Amino acid sequence: MNDRLFIFDTTLRDGEQVPGCQLNTIEKIQVAKQLEALGVDVIEAGFPISSPGDFNSVIEISKAVTWPTICALTRAVQKDIDVAVEALQYAKHKRIHTGIGTSDSHIKYKFNSNREEIIQRAVAAVKYAKRFVDDVEFYAEDAGRTDNEYLARVIDAVVKAGATVCNIPDTTGYCLPQEFGQKIKYLMEHVDGLSDGRAILSTHCHNDLGMATANTIAGILNGARQAEVTINGIGERAGNTSLEEVAMILKCHKGIAIDTNINTQKIYPTSRLVSSLMNMPVQPNKAIVGRNAFAHSSGIHQDGVLKNVQTYEIIDPKDVGIDDNSIVLTARSGRAALKHRLSVLGVDMDGEALDKTYQAFLRLADQKKEINDDDILMLAGADRTAAHAIQLDYLQVTTGMGVKSVACIGLDITGEKFEASASGNGPVDAAIKALKCIIRRQMTLKEFTIQAISKGSDDVGKVHMQVEYDGHVYYGFGANTDIVTASVEAYIDCINKFKK
Ligand code: KIV
Ligand code: ZN
Repeated sequence: MNDRLFIFDTTLRDGEQVPGCQLNTIEKIQVAKQLEALGVDVIEAGFPISSPGDFNSVIEISKAVTWPTICALTRAVQKDIDVAVEALQYAKHKRIHTGIGTSDSHIKYKFNSNREEIIQRAVAAVKYAKRFVDDVEFYAEDAGRTDNEYLARVIDAVVKAGATVCNIPDTTGYCLPQEFGQKIKYLMEHVDGLSDGRAILSTHCHNDLGMATANTIAGILNGARQAEVTINGIGERAGNTSLEEVAMILKCHKGIAIDTNINTQKIYPTSRLVSSLMNMPVQPNKAIVGRNAFAHSSGIHQDGVLKNVQTYEIIDPKDVGIDDNSIVLTARSGRAALKHRLSVLGVDMDGEALDKTYQAFLRLADQKKEINDDDILMLAGADRTAAHAIQLDYLQVTTGMGVKSVACIGLDITGEKFEASASGNGPVDAAIKALKCIIRRQMTLKEFTIQAISKGSDDVGKVHMQVEYDGHVYYGFGANTDIVTASVEAYIDCINKFKK
């Protein structure tokens, strides 16, 4: 019988730490339920002491999800553990994930401490967490740069204290695959509690040098039996190991003889849901879930694929939930078809909300022929801005070659109407200058990205913006078939988030 690898998803904790990717509790519940349908074993739902939002999300996700273990992150600090215990009170299966930095630089600069004291603090945290839950995971932060002999002593001590999972994070994404694999092997061979099955090792790899997945696989090949991953590989800096890559590597390479519980056909819808809710585009050439992952463009490849699909394709797109026949809706599609597609994408919608989304769907279908999954998710999330104090009422822009662009804008600010016009160096510049005539604040556009979702000149354009105001950077998003309107919506989205 094959061995089993546990999948620990940290999209809602490490992934959500990315600036601009923050979700509200309702959105987190949506993602958590989709992760449950996908078959993950553990959902890291947040870091409860870090904010009331995180605390509340752990509570609500615990209530909403049945099968996966819900995990809460803490530092090796009693107060953190107390708050995590409270946040996990409704979880059917609960885990506390506690830990401390173990590399020399963490010990010296972060804790101004020494190796022995760090072991004592680690043991004390695990013992304290054990008073409340059976399932305690310990992380040795920066284990990737911790020397193996000392790391083995730490892991031995925390297993004796009761940790049943030991996480070996390559926090900075520094290790080479062979080096990381060796680290796991060394621990397996030098810690009794690992070889006798009292605890398992977990990988948690970051992608700073593009080696997160390779390191994770090296860890698994050397004995790790849990992998910490995120959907689309999102996460701090260059991100974490991506769930879809690990799941598909193990599925394709039968010789590894390790199974996961992942229902791979849910991979693509889950990827779209996370990308859409977090407004985080997936790079087109991203393995497994990128737009071009299964697109054969060269003549030689197309010819080969037509003769026998296996000549150039190692994965059947249907195995990851990409079914070209089912992802396009048109103006003739009914409410039921929209509802079904939404539920495949992880959004359960009924009644008034479905009616509203369906009306928006029909309006969009008037503007563009084919409505794809990204459009549908964008429509489903459109009411996220409904509660905003500042709304775009109308926008008219005159532009062209050899003339100055002129924009007239109307805003609704908590029910009161405002209008302004301005000229500018192009339509977006004119529209934002007009907007600034109404919202008179010292704000600076720091980043501006426009992305068309799929293809066609009638496509919905997505705009991501970062606006600096009062020493903070705010992230905004807009989506519209009119790219100037999408840009103004993104700018207004930023303004609506200003703290004062
Ligand atoms: O990267 C890391 O070390 C982490 C730990 C907190 C688990 O995210
Ligand atoms: Zn991490």
